[in-house]
Amino acid sequence: MDSPVVVVGGSGRVGRLMVKKLLARGESVHVIGRSAHRARRHLPAGAAFHRGDVRVAESLGRVLMRSSAVIYCVEPGTDESGPDRPETTLHIGVRHVLDAATAAGGHPHVVLVSQIHATHHGHPFNAYGRVLDWRLAGEEAVRESGLPYTVVRPGWLTDEPVAGPRVRLEQGDRGDGQVSRQDLAEACVQALYCPSASGVTFELFNEAGPAPTSWEGLYAALEWDPAPVG
Ligand SMILES: NC(=O)c1ccc[n+]([C@@H]2O[C@H](COP(=O)([O-])OP(=O)(O)OC[C@H]3O[C@@H](n4cnc5c(N)ncnc54)[C@H](OP(=O)(O)O)[C@@H]3O)[C@@H](O)[C@H]2O)c1
Repeated sequence: MDSPVVVVGGSGRVGRLMVKKLLARGESVHVIGRSAHRARRHLPAGAAFHRGDVRVAESLGRVLMRSSAVIYCVEPGTDESGPDRPETTLHIGVRHVLDAATAAGGHPHVVLVSQIHATHHGHPFNAYGRVLDWRLAGEEAVRESGLPYTVVRPGWLTDEPVAGPRVRLEQGDRGDGQVSRQDLAEACVQALYCPSASGVTFELFNEAGPAPTSWEGLYAALEWDPAPVG
């Protein structure tokens, strides 16, 4: 890509796997996060770190303005109210990042890490600060942004592909299961290079069977999201 890829939350457990994959592809990789200590501890030498908090628009700086792609994988707080309620990172923070990335006319591909059950208002997980409602609101902000995008809804994250190395992509938010952080990171990075990953929302799981050989083929089998109304 001809300008940097920004990974918001790139010092986290999934984010740092994405950073390594992007560096291995020769990309210029910039990471946004709150903790310089965490970044020093977990980021490879080739990644540039920018201290910023998605909840505070002014902290995001200029790096997003000249990005060719943005991956958003921020872990929410679970407080009922206050700055660590899920709304602040899952919706307000997403909007801040979209605004910063487009402020100077930028048109990056945005990959959003969401989660399964985002459309299930009545799911018990939603009791934690309406985390699922705010996930969906963040997804909708991305889908309505006018930017090329991919929304990934991973199943419950594991550090190994315990359910098996095959990946299964679904749509309609009906499934449940697990997926490894490695496969989530790979899905997000591949989405930037596979044309058919643009304009889709899908769930991601591991299962028994062989590991994927063609992500473009997996993405090409998905339905595009309906065009936003209005
Ligand atoms: N655990 C699961 O089963 C599961 C299932 C589905 C989806 N997910 C989602 O998958 C994503 C990645 O998970 P993970 O395991 O990689 O999480 P993680 O290890 O906790 O990493 C989260 C990252 O978010 C950054 N972050 C948190 N608040 C921030 C803020 N206000 N501004 C900027 N950066 C912020 C953190 O850095 P700083 O602390 O330095 O800011 C860190 O780099 C998350 O969105 C998670 O909710 C998880």
